[in-house]
Amino acid sequence: MKRVIARAPSNIAVIKYMGKLDSSLNLPSNPSLSLTLDRLCTVTEAAWSGPGEFSLRWQGASSLGEWQDLRPMEIEGGLALKKMQRHIARVASALRPGLVDLGAWEIRSGNRFPAGAGIASSASGFAALTLAVARAMDALPEGERGGALLSSLSRQGSGSSCRSFEGPWVAWEGERAFRVASPSLKLADLVLVVEDRPKTVGSSEAHARVLESERWPGRLERVAARYADLRRLLESDRLAIEWSRFSELCLEEAMDMHGLFHSSKPPFNYMTETTREVLAWLESEPSLPVAITLDAGPNIHLLVPNEEAGAVRRAVEQRFDWLSILQDLQGPGALAGARA
Ligand code: DP6
Repeated sequence: MKRVIARAPSNIAVIKYMGKLDSSLNLPSNPSLSLTLDRLCTVTEAAWSGPGEFSLRWQGASSLGEWQDLRPMEIEGGLALKKMQRHIARVASALRPGLVDLGAWEIRSGNRFPAGAGIASSASGFAALTLAVARAMDALPEGERGGALLSSLSRQGSGSSCRSFEGPWVAWEGERAFRVASPSLKLADLVLVVEDRPKTVGSSEAHARVLESERWPGRLERVAARYADLRRLLESDRLAIEWSRFSELCLEEAMDMHGLFHSSKPPFNYMTETTREVLAWLESEPSLPVAITLDAGPNIHLLVPNEEAGAVRRAVEQRFDWLSILQDLQGPGALAGARA
């Protein structure tokens, strides 16, 4: 069996994918825009038997090749295994049209971030799996269009994964994710891990429930305006000059999404007392050069100019010495990943 290893980073959305037009294809209600991370990633090994009866054996891995200290990505329950099986079949049949017997697959996978730490393992997980399957079949499509194909297949497994193939700034509109011009200011992401318990409402369910929120009407207009503004900031290289606008935009968008959660029927909430306490403290420290965002979870992401990351981290640690903090940089995405 041919064994290959692929690695894909997670990404953090500034403009959020929340609400689907079509949940079988993961087509989003609105455009989104994210920053691709670097070291916070999933590493996946795939081994393929070649054409034959289709089967899948999945194992969590704590080390793969040069990658040590991985957090094994276990699959819990038959449903999750079926989802992975469906995804492998989707990718394999798209890359080898006409192939009926999709063969035996052995997958081993691990994350370079702790579970439940506010890093979406489905984004890096599906991107790494898609890439590993393509490499194991020797069917890695070349060039920009090949990247678009893998990204679009990956999206059908989990929407946000389509933005992890390139970097650092990636937009996603409808069926297409694409890199947008990246500004000269390079960012770091400090993830303040407020809580590491699994979420009570998964993001797929959140996508469905927000459609019932009384704040849903108007959401598409609000998000479109922020999306256009962020693209303008990035493409005109004004991120540094208009940092306070960027920072405002990040928080407004995150709060808009959480507002949808709080007003859906029935409402749900990811923020804890600690989330609110840390947010209030950040608000009281306007001189900190941070742009705040949250995903569908209680943890807080601080986007910070690279050269300020150390100082910001120290300030947070001084105030909340019990918080665990993950630190990462913006990165080039799975396809450009240098090593795997
Ligand atoms: C809040 O990509 O996890 O992180 O397509 O159902 O797998 P599925 O959802 P998923 O949603 C992520 C939502 C988000 C915002 C974002 O990353 O844009």
